[in-house]
Amino acid sequence: MQHIVWITGASSGIGAALVAEYARQGWHVIATARRIDALQSVAEKTGRAENIHLLPADLGDLENISTLSLQAWNIQGHLDMVILNAGVGQWGTVTETQTEVEDQLFDLNYHSPVRTIKAILPKMEKQGFGRIVAIGSIAGQFGQRKLAAYSASKAALTIYLESLKEECHDSPVRIQLVSPGSARTQIMESSMLPDGSRLNKTGKAQENGLDPAILAKRIFQFTQTRRFHAVMTGSEGLALPLHYFLPGLFYRMLRLRYARK
Ligand SMILES: NC(=O)c1ccc[n+]([C@@H]2O[C@H](COP(=O)([O-])OP(=O)(O)OC[C@H]3O[C@@H](n4cnc5c(N)ncnc54)[C@H](OP(=O)(O)O)[C@@H]3O)[C@@H](O)[C@H]2O)c1
Repeated sequence: MQHIVWITGASSGIGAALVAEYARQGWHVIATARRIDALQSVAEKTGRAENIHLLPADLGDLENISTLSLQAWNIQGHLDMVILNAGVGQWGTVTETQTEVEDQLFDLNYHSPVRTIKAILPKMEKQGFGRIVAIGSIAGQFGQRKLAAYSASKAALTIYLESLKEECHDSPVRIQLVSPGSARTQIMESSMLPDGSRLNKTGKAQENGLDPAILAKRIFQFTQTRRFHAVMTGSEGLALPLHYFLPGLFYRMLRLRYARK
């Protein structure tokens, strides 16, 4: 029987690369994001569009998540894996960022995956197998200026997943978390400014970041293991140990980086 994975945030960046990788590996993919044209183009580029089912939706619409999850489940009557990847960035200080913008960010980055888990996990437990994989970020492991809500949403997701992993210790469902470093995607361009408008420009971290196709291969391999958490970084590989062991030095270096901008 063909494996089936539901991937959110599938219209660009890491999600689009995951669609291509899982399709290449022979999986049937259900692809969700808001932009149907972009989803269609992602599916066509894989050369395996017949194995990709488009399920466009706004995941910020939290009331619709349980219905949407049921729709995804019913496409083939089961799911082997869900990859909770959809997310949005931000760029703005705490005082200038409107509360509504932070709420919108949390709806997508935290509440939407949590509601999806609540809808899918009982079904996977009943069928006796399944994997739930969330895409966090290394930004969820430390605080940074102008990224407070984004980092907090990823930190919340990280701890939620870690708690869930413990709850599922004796469950047939495996919980996994990937924390990527910077990747070459549209995350910065589509980041929300303090008034909710888009940043519309990219940054050095993204330009020099990991190739999403390589990241997708690493994520595919990781999801074949029994491990809970994988940090997947490029040049910023030392950030986490430095932050953990020498936080003072870590933040001095971050401030120098900001001063150079
Ligand atoms: N790129 C990085 O440096 C980096 C690093 C660490 C973690 N991450 C995480 O990786 C994940 C993927 O990000 P990316 O870098 O690939 O960014 P991206 O290229 O901007 O992709 C974001 C995806 O999320 C979808 N999305 C946004 N709002 C949505 C909504 N309301 N409903 C449904 N889908 C929505 C977008 O599709 P539509 O616009 O079509 O809806 C798009 O497919 C995110 O969770 C991000 O936080 C990224």
